[in-house]
Amino acid sequence: MDFSNSLVIISGTSRGLGNSLANGFLKEGADVHGLGRSSTIEHPNYSHSSIDLSVPENISKLEFEFEKEYESLILINNAGRLGKVASFKDLEEEGIIQTANLNFLAPILLTKKFLDLDCNRSAQKYVMNIGSGAAYNEYDGWSMYCSTKAGLSMFSRTVHLESKMGKANCKIVDLSPGIIDTGMQDEIRSRKASDFSQLERFVEYKQNGDLQSADYTSELIISNFEGLFKKESFSDSVRNYK
Ligand SMILES: NC(=O)c1ccc[n+]([C@@H]2O[C@H](COP(=O)([O-])OP(=O)(O)OC[C@H]3O[C@@H](n4cnc5c(N)ncnc54)[C@H](OP(=O)(O)O)[C@@H]3O)[C@@H](O)[C@H]2O)c1
Repeated sequence: MDFSNSLVIISGTSRGLGNSLANGFLKEGADVHGLGRSSTIEHPNYSHSSIDLSVPENISKLEFEFEKEYESLILINNAGRLGKVASFKDLEEEGIIQTANLNFLAPILLTKKFLDLDCNRSAQKYVMNIGSGAAYNEYDGWSMYCSTKAGLSMFSRTVHLESKMGKANCKIVDLSPGIIDTGMQDEIRSRKASDFSQLERFVEYKQNGDLQSADYTSELIISNFEGLFKKESFSDSVRNYK
């Protein structure tokens, strides 16, 4: 796909997968707009809204204003948090709300704002929600992460159905990016085995060199971009494109 007349809005561009995706799309000639608490990208075609996406009111106040008439508009809901790794009974209400807001509510509110965005009528809109295998597999200590990713997957699935029925003005996919060598994996390995029985498995992924780099993952996503939306299934995994 030619991205030279595309606008790509990506949440969480300061580091990890979102940072690699933003740089990858910039290399392809797209204009990129990042959303997140901090910004680390300097590029003439990059703009940024400083925003804490775990506060829904911030998203309500957010205004997208783009003057160019793009051929394609892309929203990538990438920002996410693991939150505290502990049994659900030991989580605090504040952390529960933050994880639910960032991983589940923020992508939904951003998708709504994005679909309402006035633009060239013939522009194709794409929404990519970065999901996780944790949406389909339960891990002790990850109740909020697993359940918010599962909720996001069902949201994508429902809008995908509406899109197939001609009732949604976008193409949408829920994408599991694989296990990536980012700060989130550092965070997982820093937890206690007493809080997370699968800890050793994740330590071994790193030791055995099984983690994908964020750049490799973003290259797979960008080079297979249109194909990811063409499949009949609402959900996909980068593992299918290696
Ligand atoms: N790493 C993996 O193995 C893996 C596996 C499956 C799925 N995923 C998913 O892939 C996505 C990216 O993960 P990653 O590993 O790249 O994570 P990461 O390295 O921890 O980066 C997270 C990004 O999210 C942003 N973010 C966090 N809290 C935010 C907030 N309150 N408001 C706005 N932005 C916020 C951060 O930006 P600021 O701090 O600047 O706000 C940062 O850029 C996530 O949705 C994650 O669930 C990752």
